[in-house]
This record gives sequence, structure tokens and C-alpha cells, in this order.
Amino acid sequence: MKYKIEKENFLDIKAEVGVVFVIDKNLEHKWVCDAKKLEKLGFQAGDGEVCLTQKSKLLYVGVNSLDSDDIRVASSNAIKAIKNTKFKSLKIALYLDECPALAVRSIVEGFELGIYKFEKYLSKKDKINLKEIIFSTEEYNDKNISQTTIENNINKALIITNATNLARDIVNTPPQDYTSLSFEKDALEISEKLENVTCKVYDEEFLKKENMNAFLAVNKASPIPPRLIHLTYKPKNSIKRVIYVGKGLTYDTGGLSLKPSSSMVSMKADKSGAAAALAIIKAAAELKLPFEIHSILGATENAIGGDAYKPDDILIARNKKSIEVKNTDAEGRLVLADCLSYAQDFKPDLLIDMATLTGACVVALGEYTTGVIGFNHDLINDFENRVKYSGELTNPLRFNKYLKTLVKSNIADTCNISSSRYGGAITAGVFLSNFIEEENKQNWLHLDIAGPAFTDNAWGYNPAGGSGAGVRMNLYYLMNLAKEAK
Ligand code: BES
Ligand code: ZN
Ligand code: ZN
Repeated sequence: MKYKIEKENFLDIKAEVGVVFVIDKNLEHKWVCDAKKLEKLGFQAGDGEVCLTQKSKLLYVGVNSLDSDDIRVASSNAIKAIKNTKFKSLKIALYLDECPALAVRSIVEGFELGIYKFEKYLSKKDKINLKEIIFSTEEYNDKNISQTTIENNINKALIITNATNLARDIVNTPPQDYTSLSFEKDALEISEKLENVTCKVYDEEFLKKENMNAFLAVNKASPIPPRLIHLTYKPKNSIKRVIYVGKGLTYDTGGLSLKPSSSMVSMKADKSGAAAALAIIKAAAELKLPFEIHSILGATENAIGGDAYKPDDILIARNKKSIEVKNTDAEGRLVLADCLSYAQDFKPDLLIDMATLTGACVVALGEYTTGVIGFNHDLINDFENRVKYSGELTNPLRFNKYLKTLVKSNIADTCNISSSRYGGAITAGVFLSNFIEEENKQNWLHLDIAGPAFTDNAWGYNPAGGSGAGVRMNLYYLMNLAKEAK
């Protein structure tokens, strides 16, 4: 979509359709030209309600408040109502809450996230006539905002939403077409296009040499080779080294501990952590953030076959710890164990893994929320505060001394499942913590995105299917850290 800024008042700008947010049912606002008609039409400006008036060509959208995520949802609702019409140009004014930069970004993010549709496999694609969105510099409460602030934040929002939509595309692509080799191709393409981004791709031989036997075990029954993909973004002005590790299971059948048919459906989304890590580094480089960022993707599928790894196998991970496998469906943590060990060779100031790790996390928090797990409660609090305005939802899940005892094995250093059926999201975190070195324990965050990464039904500005979970959250986190460092 093309964006333009005009200094004229909203109502004076020429465009084929205008969007008016009706905040908290306030129909007496200066931009509402059709109050009587709206009343006749039964429009009550409830949250999510939209109404297009014929004569004035204004689309009224009900919004609860000026809160940035309410605005995101509103502009997503607006674009959904308009995208299949004949209108080629749309105008909108500004709605500022506290932070002007955030307010502009929220509107653009809502448009770009709301218009997304995964169409690759549809023989008939949507025809979108809308080509141009015009911002008026006029503001809801007559506040002033500079043209450069508007421009900069439109650009930032486009980078952030392009990355989110890239992650959505990767997650939605079916397992026969998106494999570890697709991750390799996408990662190399991204690194070639971006200054300061390099990419190393490692194959089975490397994994063997590095004794990454947990990762290799998961790959055993797959006809497609595993890939460890290591992208690095190194700007000159780096103030911190942040390392992302992403679970890239391009399909999870459960292995020999086979998933029931209905739970297997949608396991193409088990690559969401790696998709997010790839999208984050791309956007971070485009935003020129002052951090050295690494994204390490562990890509393979968890298949079945004669040579599949088995419950009862004991694996020696890269860090030499032995793991008794009791369930081959707890495979993500095995891939992460070795990738986390590898990641720590690069001395992170902050180590964040992202994974669709447990169904238990979805049971605990619901579908829309990411579980945040780690030893450092201050870091967790700080992370949650800084990601708040991304619109992505988080909730902390704390370790405790009793849960810590549940991933023990009698014959190996640890077991890949808990001895209890309860608290599975946290005990998965406990398992991972076996692979975090002492010096990194306070710098490590585990994000379980099993809920929000993929949903059967649309929510807010997210469509049914992949949502791009983790991408905006981490970009907002990094942008917020960068702002403070200035
Ligand atoms: N990929 C799944 C977790 C998952 C479940 C993601 C639902 C998204 C939606 C993971 O590999 C898995 O199968 N975990 C098992 C762990 C269990 C065997 C301890 C689970 O959650 O059931
Ligand atoms: Zn699994
Ligand atoms: Zn999995």
C-alpha cells in the first residue's frame, strides 16, 4: 500500500472514501457528518461496528478508546470493510493517545495486518482496488504532530508488519512445500538483500561434528535433511548482543508417540518460533537497531519411519547431558536443547528462545497469550512492560522448587517429559534450563508461543491461521530498549 501525508483538514482531503473512528460512542465529534443518518441506520458505534454512508462516503468504525491496540483493531476492521470495494484511495486523520509515534504506527499496523490474506494456494485471488492511504495531519483532539514523525513511523510500521506477514506466510505454507531447505533458502535470500546481515547454513555433518545428538534424533525418520541456520546482524553501533533461538519443526507428527489425527492438523505451525526469529532479524536490520542480533533456527520435521528415534532412547546432547526419551512428541525441546547450547558459544547478553513448545501453555493461558518463562523475574517484568504496546499478550509462568524435580530420570541426567501431567509449560521450561549455562541463567527468556502462533479462528487483526506471534513483541522490545539507550 502507498501512504501519503496531507496538511489539509481531514474533511477537505479528496479521496474516494474516508475512515472515521467513533471513539467511545462519541457521535458529536467534528468528523462525524452523518449523526442523524447513522442513528436511522441503527449504528451505535459499538466496538467493531462499521457503517458506510452513501453520500458522504465515510466509513464509521466503532472503537472503545484511543488505546493503541484498540486503534490497531479499528483500522484492521476498517480495511477489511473496504478492501473488496471499488474504492482506490482512502483518507484518515490522526488519533493520538499518549505517544504520537505509537499512535501513527498503530493505525498503519492495523491496516497492514488486517488486509493480510494467505492466498498462495487459491485459484481465485482477491482483487484489491485500494492503492493509496492518505493521512491528514489533523488530529482527533487537535494535537500537533510533525510530518517527519508521521513519515518515520509509517515506515517503521511497514517494516514491522512486513516482517509479521512474512512469518505468517511461512507458518501458513503447507509442510510439503515448506521444509528445512525452505528456511535455508529464505534465510540466504534475506541475508543477501540486507547490509550487515550474514547467514551460515549448517547440515547434518556439522550437527554430527558438534555432537548435537538430540537435534539429530528428531530428524532421523525424515527424508529431508536438518538445517541449523545462523543469521547475524552486526551494526557498527551495537550496544548489546541479543540471540534468538527458534523452534523450526516444519511438521510435527509426534514421531512414534504419534499424535491423534485431530491434534496433528495444524502442526505445520510448529515452525512458528523459527519463522519469528527469521522475521525479527530482517526487520531489526531494516530498522537499523543498535544491537548485534543473532537468529538461530533449528529446522527439521518430526516424522515416523523405520529409523525413527524411539521412546526409551537415551540421547547425549551437545552439552554432554544425557536425555531419556519417554515421548517422541516432546521433540521441540530436544532441538532447542542443542541449539541453545550452540547459541551460548556466542556469549549473549540476552538469550531468547521462541517455540510452539507445549499444548499445556495453551491450556494454561488460552490461545492468545505467550507464556514467558525464565529465572530472572526482573527481566521477565521488564520484558513484559516493554512489549505491552506491541499488542501481543504475555503472561509469566514461574518455576518453583517442586516443579523443578519433575523432569528427572533414573537412568539419564534428565527426561524429555515430566512425571506429572500438570504444569507442562513450566516443566518444559525446566527441561530447557538444563541446557542453559550458569552464566546465562539470568539472561535467558523462553517464550512459549504455542497458543497465539496459529489459531483456527480470526481474532483482532489476526486472521485464522498463522499470526506472526513473537515478531512484533520482540521488535517493540528492541525498539524500546534502543530508545532508552539514546
Ligand atoms: N508442537 C507441540 C506443541 C503444540 C501443541 C503446539 C499444540 C501448538 C499447539 C509439541 O511438540 C508437543 O507435541 N508437545 C507435547 C509435549 C508432551 C508430549 C509432554 C504436548 O504439548 O502435548
Ligand atoms: Zn511434538
Ligand atoms: Zn512440536
